[in-house]
Amino acid sequence: MNTEERISFLRKELEGYNHSYYVLDTPVISDFEFDKLMSELIGLEEENPEYQDDLSPTKKVGGMVIDSFNTINHKFPMLSLSNTYNAEDLNDFDNRVKKLIDVPFQYVCELKFDGASISLTYVNGKLKQALTRGDGTKGDDVTENVKTIRSLPLKLKGDFPEEFEIRGEILISKSDFEKLNDQKIEKEEKPFSNPRNTASGSLKMHDTKEVYNRLLDCFLYHMLGENLPTKEHFSNLEKAKSWGLKVSDTTEVKSDIYGVIDYVNYWDTARYDLPFEIDGIVIKVNNTDLQEELGFTSKFPRWAISYKFKSEQVFTKLNSISYQVGRTGAITPVANLEPVQLAGTIVKRASLHNADQIEKLDIRVGDVVYVEKGGEIIPKVVGVELKDRDLLSQPTEFISTCPDCNTELVRKEGDAKHYCPNSENCNQQIIGKFEHFIGRKAMDIDGLGVETIELLVKENLISEISDLYLLRKEQILPLERMAEKSAENLISGIEESKKIPFERLLFALGIRFVGETVAKKLANHYTTIDNLMSSTFEELLAVDEIGDKIAESLVHYFSKEKNRVLIHNLKGHNLCFLAEKKQENLSDKLSGMAVVVSGVFTHHSRNELKQMIEKHGGKNVSSISKKTTFVLSGDNMGPSKKEKAEELGIPLISEEEFINKIS
Ligand code: IVH
Repeated sequence: MNTEERISFLRKELEGYNHSYYVLDTPVISDFEFDKLMSELIGLEEENPEYQDDLSPTKKVGGMVIDSFNTINHKFPMLSLSNTYNAEDLNDFDNRVKKLIDVPFQYVCELKFDGASISLTYVNGKLKQALTRGDGTKGDDVTENVKTIRSLPLKLKGDFPEEFEIRGEILISKSDFEKLNDQKIEKEEKPFSNPRNTASGSLKMHDTKEVYNRLLDCFLYHMLGENLPTKEHFSNLEKAKSWGLKVSDTTEVKSDIYGVIDYVNYWDTARYDLPFEIDGIVIKVNNTDLQEELGFTSKFPRWAISYKFKSEQVFTKLNSISYQVGRTGAITPVANLEPVQLAGTIVKRASLHNADQIEKLDIRVGDVVYVEKGGEIIPKVVGVELKDRDLLSQPTEFISTCPDCNTELVRKEGDAKHYCPNSENCNQQIIGKFEHFIGRKAMDIDGLGVETIELLVKENLISEISDLYLLRKEQILPLERMAEKSAENLISGIEESKKIPFERLLFALGIRFVGETVAKKLANHYTTIDNLMSSTFEELLAVDEIGDKIAESLVHYFSKEKNRVLIHNLKGHNLCFLAEKKQENLSDKLSGMAVVVSGVFTHHSRNELKQMIEKHGGKNVSSISKKTTFVLSGDNMGPSKKEKAEELGIPLISEEEFINKIS
């Protein structure tokens, strides 16, 4: 065996041993023997740099310093899942799925790993790229760090497609987490708070050697790409397993929702015996054609859902209650607690929701209360330990006037919240509006933070959003802690914000129910604020994914003189109320048409057809109604869909007829 052959032999051997140890959990050689072979390979690679290979098992141990992480667009967006909390929610999900598909189908149940999500791309069986979730549209390139994960193969074996993406979760096992914290304690450093944050923090470290020392693991659970091996999610995962990727053995196929509920109940208790943390179960429709047919809402897939286990609870003392005023004037009571450790963090404050909740639970200052935290959500008080109550304690009386401006609070029929009606002059509301406006996902104004906003409002320099654009340097220089340079930065940050795209400006306005995604939809659809403002309730409803609540809120917002004046003023300051030129449509042949795509096609994938519909001015809708113009129907279209189309007199059009129509 010559040197080149020996290097290649050692790489293969070591890859195999890694796989047995970290993926299959069945070591085949001793650590001593493994280390010996590894040192031999490291030596040979050093002596013979001409045989350098970026994917050699020696690369796993790290040793590279990364300056910064490039941000890269995801080929397919990385969405999250909507949550369910009980069997009833799961039945609702099942009913929603059954309404949209009328062929027998299966569910796949998986553990919901509590870590950091990752998207891997393999090309010709080699790991090419690893991206974090980021904002779902683009993520950070953490390939070099991911390469250090012991259970993750850098090269695959078997009949993998030329190119595919596979998504999964990077995590740290409970025992490795303890090991890491023991090391921290030994070095008299602050321990890590929980495995999830530690895993996601590790991915962004600059020294790959340190990442290696974080003992990361990775489970894969979702394959994407053009040429996937099968049309079933479960079989695709089995294939991935055969190529050397780590897929959990706990994944199971269930023929109905009752099977799903059994699985959920089993893991609700069995989860404590797992070597790593999970925070729920993920349920997915198995067949990938059906997944495509079900599609997505603006935020979530319709073909999958997560079931969240009940969160951990702790009890602590309620020291006092304070009241926050939001940007809409809504009052939120907040519990100030005796600090307590909960799910890895110290909790000092928790939400009390509203007056009804306080009354229902009869929460009183001085009580011992139960606090719960679910995922990222703010902790909340969920109960009171009545047996510990002080005999002299008094029921909580909800405030009747605004804690900021003293105005009498109002509470509308059927509304759980109290509101301060003084939207024009209540400082907290004004500050809240500005806070939202300048937020990172909104105008993201450089040099302007909440503290400065508070000062500017208190000094009466700003009260309406448009006042920001009238600010002059001389006015802000006298403010506390404001130096020449920071004043200049602020003014130039405000000036720069005029270039922020329409969709973000629309979100920044803070219209109720118009979040980031909805703002994007509206900006794309209407392209100008004038078009949006003149749209009626019915016209708004016709926009994909805009429902009653959003439409009503928009009509209400634009009906107010004050808001129209605000937009007029912002336009006067040259803010961007025009969407960037949309990708030119190929034609208007389908303009005004609502199309349902259903079934399996010969020449194009369903997604391609949907894109073609949009490019020719049409709109994709997911279910057949009176408003549907035609159904683009392929093979295996469900009989009930067919029936519905017939009943409503909606024409069915074949793939060929469709192509003729648009060419
Ligand atoms: S599927 C569109 N499967 O949970 C499909 N996600 O809220 C989306 N997660 O961002 C992902 N275990 O980070 C899926 N077995 C599993 C999962 C899982 C954990 C995470 C993932 C995702 C979030 C969804």
